[in-house]
Amino acid sequence: MSTVVETDVLIVGSGPAGASAALALSTYGVPNIVVTRYASLADTPRAHITNQRTMEVLRDLGVEQDVIARATPQHLMGNTTFCTSLAGEELGRVRSWGNDPLVQAAHELASPTRMCDLPQHLMEPVLVDAAVARGTSLRFETEYLSHTQDADGVTATVRDRLRGDTYEIRAKYLIGADGGRSRVAEDAGLPMGGQMGVAGSINIVFEADLTKYTAHRPATLYWVLAPGATVGGIGAGLVRCVRPWNEWLIVWGYDVTAGAPDLTTEYAESVVRQLVGDDEIPVTIKSSSAWTVNEMYAERYSNGRVFCAGDATHRHPPSNGLGSNTSIQDAYNLAWKLKLVLDGSASPKLLDTYTAERAPVGKQVVTRANRSIGETAPIFEALDGLSPQTPEQLWANIAARKEAGEAAEKQRAKLREAIAFKVYEFNAHGVDLNQRYTSDAIVPDGTPPETFPRDPELHHQPTSRPGARIPHAWITSGTRTLSTLDTVGQGRFTLLTGIGGEGWIRAAEAQDVDIATVVIGPGQEYEDPYGDWARLSEISDAGALLVRPDGFVAFRHATAAPDAREVLSDALRRILGRA
Ligand code: FDA
Repeated sequence: MSTVVETDVLIVGSGPAGASAALALSTYGVPNIVVTRYASLADTPRAHITNQRTMEVLRDLGVEQDVIARATPQHLMGNTTFCTSLAGEELGRVRSWGNDPLVQAAHELASPTRMCDLPQHLMEPVLVDAAVARGTSLRFETEYLSHTQDADGVTATVRDRLRGDTYEIRAKYLIGADGGRSRVAEDAGLPMGGQMGVAGSINIVFEADLTKYTAHRPATLYWVLAPGATVGGIGAGLVRCVRPWNEWLIVWGYDVTAGAPDLTTEYAESVVRQLVGDDEIPVTIKSSSAWTVNEMYAERYSNGRVFCAGDATHRHPPSNGLGSNTSIQDAYNLAWKLKLVLDGSASPKLLDTYTAERAPVGKQVVTRANRSIGETAPIFEALDGLSPQTPEQLWANIAARKEAGEAAEKQRAKLREAIAFKVYEFNAHGVDLNQRYTSDAIVPDGTPPETFPRDPELHHQPTSRPGARIPHAWITSGTRTLSTLDTVGQGRFTLLTGIGGEGWIRAAEAQDVDIATVVIGPGQEYEDPYGDWARLSEISDAGALLVRPDGFVAFRHATAAPDAREVLSDALRRILGRA
């Protein structure tokens, strides 16, 4: 007898995208089921850098403190080191991940959250545990096989890998969060641009006490320039900290045209020995696996009632640490829209804005991550290390930088400059935070297009323009200090105004959608003692910002409006796709 299981949203995959979609939907009270192919969550570290925007999302979803408790903190992430091996010569460092004093200040000014490093096998349980606690039904060992869709929903066929039988799950919507080889995206016919398999990489997870080579220059990443390090991979050999300072992951390249080498323990140990450079340190290999560097992005993220998120829609190397960050942010963008469509507050047209908003971000992330690989080449060039040569020649070139004379001085300058340029990979604050959405769920306010006086990849630019995330400012409520971001989210719209904005408050209260209201000013529920909000809000006290459940400004009005109720109704009609 065949069984049909029913739910509102079926999610395929329990990685960062699927787990955070489940967490957001359950937080918003939307029934959902997650099916995932294996018997456990990720069992290797994989993605790890967790940027400020993701931490803001996790803060809104109520798991920020759980993540902080398990993560390596920001101050232990920051001395990205270039060397000939961990025990060998150091070529230079980049202060990274918000640890340069100026960037650190920018991080503090930009967000109430801090970056951290939480490897994927530790992140997934935080997301999944909270999702299940809030109502997600999770089915391990359940493989998605296919789906059909009609006007009312999607029917997916899944296989129970324990029993070996197949059955159907009927859902109103399907989310394909099934990773870089997404069958859901393929079945939904999502058009992909770019290329799979542009280079070959090997991950080797191992235990070794490397304290003596790392604790004095704490970092998440130690890049090793050694003979063979330019073949395939992600630009150079990489020793990545999983847990300070005794759990590690090496990323090493291979020639993708020749195929992956035989990943024996002996092979893995030989790579570890080469990159660590100290044969006396005991090493235990935990696992090794081969993967390919991809450069692909979907031009459309949905087809009818099927939506894809995460690596299903953007596949790129780990450079800039954007993999799971972008996946979590995709899910967060989609979840509130599904909720409002499912509860009848919004038209299904709202769901079209998912592609409009996230596809450009996915494309940018794929392009940035691949460009960062190429930007490692100048470091090798500074050592004349790209052309085919013997290891002895490379070592001689590396040694030459210690000599006196004009040539060596030039080489030193070139090397410093090449290493410093890696800031685009290790301190790209703008890439993390400057996302701007243009879609039907954003109402332009008629102000001239935004300009970026500083490099938008490196520098965060706060703005309350429609399409940008609400700027962070510390405000107070009685004895409590909180961020403006803490006043928004939680699955509902928020209207922010100040003294003189009573018309906007009445307008918000008159709508048939749940809108929280926030008044900031002296003697109000929220005060702005530092004057930060007054500086950042870009509206007058009597103006208004309507912020979406994902923290993005949907509508801005610089002043009071005599017809506030109609103006706000009209804006909401557009945002929610109502006729
Ligand atoms: P993810 O791949 O994490 O999850 C997919 C989920 O779908 C899994 O739960 C899987 O079991 C499930 N699934 C797949 N097919 C299914 C089916 N038919 N039925 C049911 N379930 C199915 N990134 C980075 O920044 N730094 C790094 O070092 C690495 N290293 C790395 C190593 C390896 C080996 C991989 C595979 C990936 C990385 N990444 C990485 C990439 C990073 O892991 C990736 O960007 C995120 O995990 C993407 O999250 P998703 O949730 O989209 O997919």
